[in-house]
Amino acid sequence: MMNTTFDLAAAAARTFQERLGDPPAVAIVLGSGLGDFATTLEGAVGVDYASVPGLPLVGVEGHAGRVVVGGVGGARIAALSGRAHLYEGHEPAAVVTAVRALRLWGVSALVLTNAAGGINSAMRPGDLMLISDHLNLSGYSPLRGPNDDRLGPRFPDMSVAYDAEFRALFRQVAQTRDLTLHEGVYAGLAGPSYETPAEIRMLRTMGADAVGMSTVVEVIAARHCGLRVAGLSCITNLAAGLGQSTLSHDEVKETANLARSAFIGLLSSALPGIAAKVST
Ligand code: HPA
Repeated sequence: MMNTTFDLAAAAARTFQERLGDPPAVAIVLGSGLGDFATTLEGAVGVDYASVPGLPLVGVEGHAGRVVVGGVGGARIAALSGRAHLYEGHEPAAVVTAVRALRLWGVSALVLTNAAGGINSAMRPGDLMLISDHLNLSGYSPLRGPNDDRLGPRFPDMSVAYDAEFRALFRQVAQTRDLTLHEGVYAGLAGPSYETPAEIRMLRTMGADAVGMSTVVEVIAARHCGLRVAGLSCITNLAAGLGQSTLSHDEVKETANLARSAFIGLLSSALPGIAAKVST
């Protein structure tokens, strides 16, 4: 049968191979306002999502919709600026097609980044948080429906979804670069409205340190197909009810931009480190 989830991802993977060459070991998905990292890659070649058959069209402000391959710290990596979100109306399987395509292309490790609201009182706008674990509160799983055994098992383990070795590496890089790096639990909701203060109190009680509208379904699909995963949140605002101001996407993008140099600095050492771990 054509046009199964697998077929769409396989078609996208073939285009990655044709347009971008052999797969790099590591890929990164860049969240809202964080796309600038892609412009720092050396000798970059890219392809727009729109010209990759199989990938859904993405259409949010602050998301370019492009896959770029280039060099950072001696490693060759793929950077995806822009992602499909549940709130755009995409099916959960469509949200994760790019993740599966990366795996079928031959990528081994995936770093997912996002903009998030800070719930833990230690978090300040502009801070970075390494994701230690998540709460999937989106209401969706990308694995719902018949399992395709070519992608992964019916019941994938999620007990160490965010790779412990990668987390140790991120911590070490942050320490070396004298960057503050929080570590905590990311709650992924479907959005697109920001949370109410009551919802934020609930999330805090549930153990969430930060909240956003992406990443969790991608991590489930990534673990399902055997990718090793790291997650990094840029805390762009205090979550609803915790600060004085109301929330807006403009504020999210502005603050993500302020965190630009810390974000790029951390990744420019962490990604080659991850590449070294998975390439051997
Ligand atoms: N809530 C949900 N998603 C977000 C937030 C938030 O406060 N900030 C950035 N993305």
